[in-house]
Amino acid sequence: MGRLVIVSNRVAVPKRGDAPAAGGLAVALKDAFSNRGGLWFGWSGTALADPPDVVKHARRGGVDYAVIDLPQEAYDGFYAGYANSALWPMFHFRLGLLSYDRDQAECYRRVNRRYAKKLLTLLRPDDTIWVHDYQLIPLGAELRALGSRHRIGYFHHIPFPPWAVFSAMPGGEDLIRDLLAYDLVGVQTHRDLTGLMDCMSQGTGMKMRAGGEVRFRGRRTRFRAFPIAIATDEFAELSAHSITQPDARRFEASLVGRSLIIGAERLDYTKGLPERLRAFGALLERFPEHRGRVTYLQVAARSREDVETYKDLKREIEHLAGRINGDYSDADWTPVRYVGRAVQRDTLAGYYRMAQVGLVTPLRDGMNLVAKEYVAAQDPENPGVLVLSRFAGAAEGMPEALLVNPLDAVGVAEAMNAALTMPLDERRERHAAMFRRLQAHSVTGWAKSFLDALERPDTTETTHSRAAALSVFQPRVLARSASTSSDSSSEDSFVSQVADLSTARAKRLL
Ligand code: G6P
Repeated sequence: MGRLVIVSNRVAVPKRGDAPAAGGLAVALKDAFSNRGGLWFGWSGTALADPPDVVKHARRGGVDYAVIDLPQEAYDGFYAGYANSALWPMFHFRLGLLSYDRDQAECYRRVNRRYAKKLLTLLRPDDTIWVHDYQLIPLGAELRALGSRHRIGYFHHIPFPPWAVFSAMPGGEDLIRDLLAYDLVGVQTHRDLTGLMDCMSQGTGMKMRAGGEVRFRGRRTRFRAFPIAIATDEFAELSAHSITQPDARRFEASLVGRSLIIGAERLDYTKGLPERLRAFGALLERFPEHRGRVTYLQVAARSREDVETYKDLKREIEHLAGRINGDYSDADWTPVRYVGRAVQRDTLAGYYRMAQVGLVTPLRDGMNLVAKEYVAAQDPENPGVLVLSRFAGAAEGMPEALLVNPLDAVGVAEAMNAALTMPLDERRERHAAMFRRLQAHSVTGWAKSFLDALERPDTTETTHSRAAALSVFQPRVLARSASTSSDSSSEDSFVSQVADLSTARAKRLL
């Protein structure tokens, strides 16, 4: 078996002697790498006016890392420009924020071509290449143009909208066509697959055949949903350990017995942070019994700070948090604690375990692993409740969460109130069902199922991908705010089996 070659835009090379990264792709790929060795290629995260034209190599934990620096003008046009000011808002359905510039779009192509050229010099003929995310959509086509005959897969981590949205992007057809250079294209959810199929047929005129494949110029490209997962048991252990540590104990003591609502993410307009703050304001306004009795901790790690919309968002959140605190604080109680930087993963795991409510309300999200980590972190004997946006990919597999429409502040406030007052037996039932499902879909299984489908296309329809396909369904709405759903799904009968319990509970809540 050849090597596994991962390509992602940003590559964090572990420092010498450091433990391997505990989150995200690094964990997902650990088994795959250890079975066959591998190479991880991408951007170092450094942009320089005139970087040396070299690939920097490092070997850590059996993996070869190869990274390049970006020239500042490429960073501006490719990363801050086209990828994060045009593609990112479009893929998240935010056409009002889409800022298109022809030069930046060309820069995006040039950078992808540059990545392809550099990567090609590092490849062996039997390597399998797995490309990650929207920054690198044309990479496969650029590799093919240079003569690559490798097996190449692409996984799209963020939402995939239908053509009615995608077509707003000038040159959108070309991006869709670029996907046909891959042998396998993976998305997070059934909803994303539907969007992608719509783009394929309306944007390029090509219809997907049964089984989710398109044939074009002698190549067969298959399209599948592979919902990304977490290392559930490891995270559960981490949180149980972390809650005993000094950081967590200090924090717990500072709450002086008050309930905790927690939110944690990158500071990004897709995460619905202003809407969430307004919902928390609505909770205090409409349910005065919680005043003085609940603390909302929002961790918002700074991100993409040189993109204008992110600066505006930061100001808006600071303003809203300040206003709620001004309106409701007492001398000995501050309702919103806002931490504007990243908190270490293990510390956060302990905070999750302490929180009675996990508030995960993005306006759109590919999957959202915080939702899964929050559930994994709970004490099964006395678990907290997840309030989850129905627009997060995670909602498709977590019908026992309180599903909300994040734009409905009062609806989210009602769900928070329901979560804060939910009886123990119901919390346990909801948690146990979600936890079991998380355990059944491991993150290493996710990577394996993608790679099996890429490398053994005709023999594999792995247990994981079949089970994952089953878990990809439109969930029943559980909170009043989401009850106007008009979505339907062919898996409705399966949904009803899983969601019967939850729905009955939800009725009691409303
Ligand atoms: C999201 C994207 C990733 C991206 C990450 C951090 O999760 O799906 O592709 O790497 O955000 O964003 P950044 O712009 O800092 O790489």
